[in-house]
Amino acid sequence: MSSSRFVFFVYHLALAFLLQKAFGSQNCSNSIFAANSPYAVNLKDLLNALSVRTPRTGFGRASVGQPPARVHGLALCRGDMSSQDCKSCVEEAAVEIQKRCPNKRGAIIWYYDCLVKYENRDFFGEIDTQNKFYIPNPNNANNPAAFNRQTKRLLSRLTNQASRNSTLYAYGELQEQGLQRVYGIAQCTRDLSPSDCKTCLEDLIGEYLPLCCNGREGGRLYSGSCLAQYEVIVPY
Ligand SMILES: *[C@@H]1O[C@H](CO)[C@@H](O)[C@H](O)[C@H]1NC(C)=O
Ligand SMILES: *[C@@H]1O[C@H](CO)[C@@H](O)[C@H](O)[C@H]1NC(C)=O
Repeated sequence: MSSSRFVFFVYHLALAFLLQKAFGSQNCSNSIFAANSPYAVNLKDLLNALSVRTPRTGFGRASVGQPPARVHGLALCRGDMSSQDCKSCVEEAAVEIQKRCPNKRGAIIWYYDCLVKYENRDFFGEIDTQNKFYIPNPNNANNPAAFNRQTKRLLSRLTNQASRNSTLYAYGELQEQGLQRVYGIAQCTRDLSPSDCKTCLEDLIGEYLPLCCNGREGGRLYSGSCLAQYEVIVPY
């Protein structure tokens, strides 16, 4: 293994670990519900439904109960996940979201391979502009300015492809003359329309790519409605 491959490998492991365990990759609403209330029961049913539905296609959504205790939620697995890996991820996220956001009326949790989100209101079809974060790859790219431009071109192409794909997912690569080859993915939650998927990715990448990943060999951008990643080693 070359040393840059090794560094990447460590970063990958560390990230998988961080996102699964200690990393602050969740967001909880402030308002709470009472333990053993109808909302608590509906939330349990919702999370079970998501764990069952999501692995079939990589995306699931459900609404459970009657207002005011009605709860709406969705789960999304990375487009490259097998349904078995998707199932484990959503099941673990569903358990963890209740631990990290105990009795919260709304919450989102991001894992390396999936996200789970629920709210007390019907948020389907809305672009989530509140919940988002990014993680840069710590390694610097050679020829950073040109590499950044190449990355932008790849992510812009993947944005267009994802919004045209029925699964709202795209992956691909690009290598321009004299630069390291870059690989990427772009994906949206499937409650969004194709045009909102495009908007979600354009806004996320436009806002966070420069903040996150200027001159970096890779990075991950996450929101509650879409995600994008690029790396110099195949991430899918
Ligand atoms: C969590 O939600 C709050 C309120 O909407 C927002 O200001 C904050 O940026 C969010 N953080 C993450 C990581 O999504
Ligand atoms: C569209 O999505 C499918 C699966 O979700 C994937 O296999 C295919 O490669 C995607 N198309 C593009 C252009 O990335």
